[in-house]
Amino acid sequence: MKNVFVVIAIILPSVIFSQAQQWINPGEVWPDQNGNHIQAHGGGIIKIGKTYYWYGEERRQGLDSNKRYVSCYASKDLMNWDFKGDVLQLADPENLGRRWVCERPKVFYNTKTKKYVMYLHLDNSNYKLAKVAVCVSDKPDGNYEYVKSFRPLEHESRDIGQFIDDDGQAYLIFEDRPFGFRVAKLTEDYMGIEKEMCLVNMKLEGGAVVHYNGLYYAIGSALTGWNPNPNKYATATSLEGPWSAFKDIAPPETKTYGSQSTLMLKVAGRKKTTVIFMADIWKPRTQWDSRYLWMPLEIGNGKLWLQEPKPWKIDVKTGEVKEKGTDE
Ligand code: GAL
Repeated sequence: MKNVFVVIAIILPSVIFSQAQQWINPGEVWPDQNGNHIQAHGGGIIKIGKTYYWYGEERRQGLDSNKRYVSCYASKDLMNWDFKGDVLQLADPENLGRRWVCERPKVFYNTKTKKYVMYLHLDNSNYKLAKVAVCVSDKPDGNYEYVKSFRPLEHESRDIGQFIDDDGQAYLIFEDRPFGFRVAKLTEDYMGIEKEMCLVNMKLEGGAVVHYNGLYYAIGSALTGWNPNPNKYATATSLEGPWSAFKDIAPPETKTYGSQSTLMLKVAGRKKTTVIFMADIWKPRTQWDSRYLWMPLEIGNGKLWLQEPKPWKIDVKTGEVKEKGTDE
């Protein structure tokens, strides 16, 4: 018996250790703390205290096909993620019919109301409804209750994105076909839209914005559904624009290395500020196996570039990143 304990004592730490993610491996299966592939597609991220929360489309197999699910994961290092459950389990809220759509969840924390406010793209099967839904929770990890749906400022809204500026102000990004994507300021309680900041006048979806060194950078993907395309970026000195011409973020023939933009996350560390490009590598026929492409961007002075994906890691305290193979 004693020997068994000795064996367990030796093996257990190595099992725990081997489960810890040492690297972010773009395009690979990304296991959570239970070893399951992370299901947080078309996602969004907020930081509360020292914890990052990643929300996304839950697309694992075996779910109730009448419902739509949003997952939540928590992490302190952006590499090791604890699954907190499906924090929204929504039945068709508006008689939208079979194959209704609930995509690209984005959660904002309102410090005044102390509520977590989730925005979603709500649609019917032919994507003609083009609305957002709003759900609310008292805690980051749910449960979220459905409150309402609407068209932001009466515009069509399909892919949504989130942008939180350095002053804490929260903005919703939404695609208003055929114009482009709009960036709009949320109301004080985040339950609605106060005003439009700008229309980024290019037919793009998967919109993401980051504020870096005095410039705003906007990224979007072309309208090719689940298929990847060359994502593009523009810059502006103010969120209201005017926005520069759009340029490729990566060699166009790579089609953004097979991915589609969803968010740019700024990690302002003690030594360095890193902006992470977060994108989905969709697998339309096996959605549960869709992957993620996260890479630190080369960004600054009006330029933005996504390097060829490779394993890397970040120290969220210093903001520094390392590529695998450069420190061993
Ligand atoms: C993409 C969009 C995804 C999903 C998909 C459906 O263009 O970015 O979020 O809506 O179309 O075909």
